[in-house]
Amino acid sequence: MSTGMRGSKFGVSLGEKRQAILEAFAGRPWLRALHVHTGSQGYSLDSLVEGIRRVMALGVEIRASCGRPLAAIDIGGGMPVDYRSDAGWPRFGEYAAALRERVPELFEGEFKIVTEFGRSLHAKAGWTASRVEYTKQSGGRRIAVVHAGADLFLRTAYMPETWPLRITVYQPDGTPKEGATAPWDIAGPLCFSGDFIARDRELPAIEPGDLVVVHDTGAYTLTMWSRYNSRLAPAVWGHEGDPPRLGMLKPAETMEQLLGFWE
Ligand SMILES: Cc1ncc(COP(=O)(O)O)c(C=O)c1O
Repeated sequence: MSTGMRGSKFGVSLGEKRQAILEAFAGRPWLRALHVHTGSQGYSLDSLVEGIRRVMALGVEIRASCGRPLAAIDIGGGMPVDYRSDAGWPRFGEYAAALRERVPELFEGEFKIVTEFGRSLHAKAGWTASRVEYTKQSGGRRIAVVHAGADLFLRTAYMPETWPLRITVYQPDGTPKEGATAPWDIAGPLCFSGDFIARDRELPAIEPGDLVVVHDTGAYTLTMWSRYNSRLAPAVWGHEGDPPRLGMLKPAETMEQLLGFWE
């Protein structure tokens, strides 16, 4: 998930191409901005700030060698999200304070600052609910099969350690399930054996008809929807106010739309 390594498909390596970048700016007066995006998730604040510090130093160098200031610096996105609890990331204040301390030029008002925060703004605004179709116990494992799988949680299915998602269980009427817990695997409906969205989670006893809620799914989820098994993409609902008012943001996909994709 790194975008900032030398062998990455993204960007121009500062170590190898610094001179070429300076020459490009010298010969093209319309070049007025620099962009850095160190990586997405799993990056320490320190790495994010260091990436911006280095690009800022290049901006200062360009200003000195070309005699014109930059118009903008785009510091990318990449702020991590705490998928294990609501207590941790994102912490924008901490990020801004670290940038103020280590890259003060950024705040001098000379450049326009552009940001590309994605996940950190959206992930915690969304959650996914699915009804349990059936449960089974086999090979010493308790498995609950739901209707949301690897076609929605692509990254979790392929990188479960890096991308764990919290799960809570509710009764069919929406009341939280309580009682003794045991380790459960939550499986999706697709026809491949890696279609799990969680494994070994301590959860109360799950029964068919219960609701399984997957937390923090507002980013990198529906955007990654896969056509594998040709399932219909789910509806998206929004809520606001207290008591909450529900409104449909995006209706569920229809069979006609699905067939249209394949035509
Ligand atoms: C260039 C660029 N900007 C912004 C983002 C968004 O990153 P995030 O969702 O981690 O904020 C990405 C995603 O990797 C990216 O490649």
